[in-house]
Amino acid sequence: MDTYTIDLTQPAPEKEPQRQFYFMEKAKQYVQQKSEEAGRPLTFCVTTFGCQMNARDSEKLVGILEQVGYVEEPEEEKADFVIYNTCTVRENANQRVYGRLGQLKHIKKSNPYMMIGLCGCMMQEPQVVEKLKKSYRFVDIIFGTHNIYKFAELIATRFESERMVIDIWKDTDKIVEDLPSERKFSFKSGVNIMFGCNNFCSYCIVPYVRGRERSRNPKDIIREIERLVADGVVEVMLLGQNVNSYGKNLEEPITFAQLLQEIEKIEGLERIRFMTSHPKDLSDELIEVMKNSKKICKHLHLPVQSGSTRILEKMNRRYTKEKYLELVEKIKTAVPDISLTTDIIVGFPGETEEDFLETMDVVQKVRYDSAFTFIYSKRTGTPAATMENQVPEDVIKDRFDRLLKEVQEISAEVCSVHEGTIQKALVESVNDHDHTLVTGRLSNNILVHFPGDESLIGQIVDVSLDECKGFYYIGKRV
Ligand code: 5AD
Ligand code: SF4
Repeated sequence: MDTYTIDLTQPAPEKEPQRQFYFMEKAKQYVQQKSEEAGRPLTFCVTTFGCQMNARDSEKLVGILEQVGYVEEPEEEKADFVIYNTCTVRENANQRVYGRLGQLKHIKKSNPYMMIGLCGCMMQEPQVVEKLKKSYRFVDIIFGTHNIYKFAELIATRFESERMVIDIWKDTDKIVEDLPSERKFSFKSGVNIMFGCNNFCSYCIVPYVRGRERSRNPKDIIREIERLVADGVVEVMLLGQNVNSYGKNLEEPITFAQLLQEIEKIEGLERIRFMTSHPKDLSDELIEVMKNSKKICKHLHLPVQSGSTRILEKMNRRYTKEKYLELVEKIKTAVPDISLTTDIIVGFPGETEEDFLETMDVVQKVRYDSAFTFIYSKRTGTPAATMENQVPEDVIKDRFDRLLKEVQEISAEVCSVHEGTIQKALVESVNDHDHTLVTGRLSNNILVHFPGDESLIGQIVDVSLDECKGFYYIGKRV
C-alpha cells in the first residue's frame, strides 16, 4: 500500500483515498482515548447478511476498524461496536435486522462505550432510514452501499458530534481504490470487478439499492489480484451482479472473457471463480475461454429464476425457456464436467401450476448440481410489487416443497457421478465436527472431507472421492 503523509493539524484532504487515511488516523486517536478511559481495548463485531458482495464489503469494514484500533470480538453481545451489513433482497432479512436491533438496545444500556452501525442494501431504502430515525434513535451510524469507503470518516464524525450520523447516497459513479481490507481467509478472496446492476428484473430491488452498473478498471483488478497472490491467495472469486456485462461502460471497453484471460496470466494464482452470470449476456467467447482455461473453475452459477417463458417475460429476464436450455447445452458440450447451479423464484405474481411445471421441467432437463430456491418476496418500489394475481401463500408453499424435493434428489444423483475419481481440492478448514478431518473444495465447488491437519489449509492437494454423501464427499489424500 502507498503511504501518505498525514498531518492532523491540517484540514482533511479532498482527494481519495488520502482523505480516508486522514480520518483513519483521526478516528484512531479517539478510539485510543476511549480505550484508555475504559482500561481495555475496544472491540467490534461485524455481522453480514446476504450475498458475497456484502461479505466482501464487510472485509473492507473490518480492515478499516482494525486500522483505527478496534479489536475483533466474535460475540456480538460483548462488542463495543456492532455493525450490521444488511441485505434487502427479501423482506425476511429486513425483519431479522429489526429484531436483532431490539435486542441490542438493551445491551447498549449497560455498555457506555457501545456504538451501533448499520450499512448495506437495506439502508438505501428511504422508508427504512425513516423508520430507524423515528424508532431506533440509539443507532449511531447509518450509511449505504455507495460510500462504505467513507467508514473511517463517519466514525470520526460520530465521535465528534455525539449524534446519529446518517450518510446515504442515491447513486455514485465513484470507485475508490486502495483502502485497507482484512480477509476472512488467507488463501482465497473475493474481488469486486463491478458494482451495481442495470437489468431491472421486475421483482428485484438490487438496481435501486446498488445503483447503476460500474466496472472497475482492468489494471486495478489485476493489480489487486497480484497483491493478493503475493500475500498467499491462490483462489479468487470475481464478483459482480452481472459479470457478463463487465467492461461495457469503460473508456476502453473490454469483455469479461478478455478480463479472465488477463487474470489467467497471473503467476501463482491457481483458481478463478466468478459470479453471477446473467444468461442473456453469456457469450460464446466466454464459453470458449472457460473451455481452454487451466485456472477457471468448472462451475457456473446461472440463475434461471423461472422455467416459464411467460413468467420470464414478466420478470424482464430477456430470455426464453428454450434459449436458456440451448445455452446450457452449449456449455455442457464445451465443458462436459461443468457443475451448474442456479437461483429459482417460486410464486412470482401470476405464476400458474403450468408455469411452475415448466420450472420443474427445466430443473429435470438441466440437472443442477445445486439450486437456491426462493419464495417470491414483494419488494416495494419494484414493478412486480403492484402486479395482479399475487399467488396465495399455501399454493407457494406447496410448490416450493415440491421444487426443493426435486432439486435435492437430482443434486444427490449429480454429485455422486464423481465417486471413485481423484480430484484437486483446495483445503479450506479443519472439520468442525471431527478434528481429524479437513474440508477441501473441488473445482466444481463440491466439498470433500478427508483426514488431515491444519498445516494443509490453503494447499491444493489430490484427493480420491471415496464416498458421496449427497452433497459432499468423504475421501482421502493420494
Ligand atoms: N423475491 C425472491 N427472491 C428474489 N431474488 C431477488 N429478488 C427476489 C425477490 N423479490 C433472488 C433471485 C436472485 C437471488 C440473489 O435472489 O433468485 O438471483
Ligand atoms: Fe436483480 Fe436481475 Fe440485477 Fe440480478 S440481474 S441483481 S436479479 S435485477
